[in-house]
Parts: sequence; C-alpha cells; structure tokens
Amino acid sequence: MPSVPSPSEARSSGPAVPGRDGTILEAHNLIKTFRLGGRDVTVLHGVSLKVKRGEFVALMGPSGSGKSTLLQLLGGLDRPTSGEVILDGEVVSRLSEGEATRLRRDKTGFVFQFFNLIPLLDVYENVALPFTIAGVDPRRGEAAARIVDVLEMVDLVGCERNRPDQLSAGEQQRVALARALVCRPAILLADEPTGNLDYANSGQILDKLWRSCDERGQTIVLVTHDARAAAHADRVLVIGDGAIRDEIELGRRKEIDPRPLITRLAQLGL
Ligand SMILES: Nc1ncnc2c1ncn2[C@@H]1O[C@H](COP(=O)(O)OP(=O)(O)OP(=O)(O)O)[C@@H](O)[C@H]1O
Ligand SMILES: [Mg+2]
Repeated sequence: MPSVPSPSEARSSGPAVPGRDGTILEAHNLIKTFRLGGRDVTVLHGVSLKVKRGEFVALMGPSGSGKSTLLQLLGGLDRPTSGEVILDGEVVSRLSEGEATRLRRDKTGFVFQFFNLIPLLDVYENVALPFTIAGVDPRRGEAAARIVDVLEMVDLVGCERNRPDQLSAGEQQRVALARALVCRPAILLADEPTGNLDYANSGQILDKLWRSCDERGQTIVLVTHDARAAAHADRVLVIGDGAIRDEIELGRRKEIDPRPLITRLAQLGL
C-alpha cells in the first residue's frame, strides 16, 4: 500500500533543492497570453515574486486583473507563455506533464474559485480524493484519521454522506478546502476560499489557516477580494492589469487588525 503523503516526507526525501533563502515558490517574469476570438490577449505582463517556506501571502486586485491565472501558473495547473515557476527547487516548465503532475500532487493543495467538486461523490469521497488517486484506502488507518481531522477543522462532521448538490455554497467551499488540506501539502494555493462564507464561518476558516501557518509551518498563497481575509497574511501583493503594483508587509501578528491594510488599500485606490 502506498504510504500516506506528508509534506515533511516530501520535503526531506525529494530531489528538490530548497531555496537558499528559505524560498519555496518563485515566479520569474511570468507572461500569460490567451488566444481569444482570433486575437491574443495578454493577461500577465511579467510577474515575479517569491514566497518563503511557512509564509502566508495574500494576492489582491480587481476582478479580471489576473489573480486566478497567476495562481494556476504558480500551482503548475497551467503553463506560462514565457517565464518560469520554481516550486520547491524544481523548475516546473522543465518538467514533463507526468513530472509536473507528480510535483503538484506531492507539494500543493489547490482550492478553486468555483470548488470543482465531483458531483457524484459524497463529501467524504470528495475529501478523500487525493488518497484515492494515490491508491491509498481512505476508509482505513492514517488516511481515515486525517479525513476526520480535516472535516472537523472545516466543521463538516455529520455531512459526510451529502453530495455537493445537497450542500450550500459555503459548505461546498469548505469541502474544497478540506480536500486541499487533507494531504498536508507543503503549499496551499487558495482562490477565494472564503468567498461564499458568512462572516463568522469565514473568520473561523481564516483563523484555522493562520494557525496552520503559525503552528505547522504551512505555506499559503491566498487570492482574495476581502481585506479582512488578506489581513491574516504576512504580506499582501496587489495585482493590477497583470502586474504586481504594490507589496504590503504586514508581518506575523496574533491580533489580526484589518484597519491598517484597509487604509493602505484605500490610498492605492482599491
Ligand atoms: N482560459 C482563458 N482564455 C481566455 N481568457 C482567459 C482565460 N482565463 C482567464 N482569461 C482572461 O484573463 C483575465 C484575467 O482572468 P482571471 O480569472 O485571472 O482574473 P481574476 O483576477 O481572478 O478575476 P476575479 O477576481 O473576477 O476572479 C480575464 O480578462 C479573463 O477573461
Ligand atoms: Mg479569479
């Protein structure tokens, strides 16, 4: 039986060379052009960034500014037109499809903006998917324990048998978050993971994400429109028209106060 993947195992045994300065994720001059209705539309105009291991980074910016596109490139779900993504020491664009899939599976958890749950699977089976794909029986042993653990974290105990169409949008989003976290990925890439949650639920999830950074060294890249969510990050990158326009260093704080960030964003006209 294949072993349950764990980020610490993946980190210590893999061929990856961690960045000398503790960098886990780097982007160099990413350009992304889509072909749309017979013409080329450039969405990212040369984005470079670095994320340190254990860091919590938020990406903010107006609708259509390229946040989801950038997140997909960072997670190796799509390839840039030019430029490079380096994930835990591996240059994603130099990998074959198979190697990129392996890297993605071993190192990343992804929460999609529109959930991408499997409609015919129930909550437990959706969350268990990374184990099922890896050939691990999700009803036994450590895999089962981790599924229970993550379902508790997102407060979905009791909903295990529901299918996605029997859940609210907020509940579906929490299933997507649980699925992304169940293998304890080295880096979590989350596209508006609290976009459909009410104030209390979203606060709880963000608190849990913040704790997983602070206590377990989880690296998080969070895309959000919500300054209150972004205020949980150590650093906020502001994207506009396909480029990084500003970087706001907040630092790790126990008391999350969104007011300084809101003031700064207002000064930037956001
Ligand atoms: N596969 C695609 N083909 C063509 N154009 C695309 C594709 N994906 C994204 N785009 C375009 O790229 C631009 C940026 O889209 P993206 O989804 O990255 O924005 P976003 O910042 O995530 O917006 P939102 O906040 O609304 O989610 C948009 O104009 C969109 O139409
Ligand atoms: Mg988006």
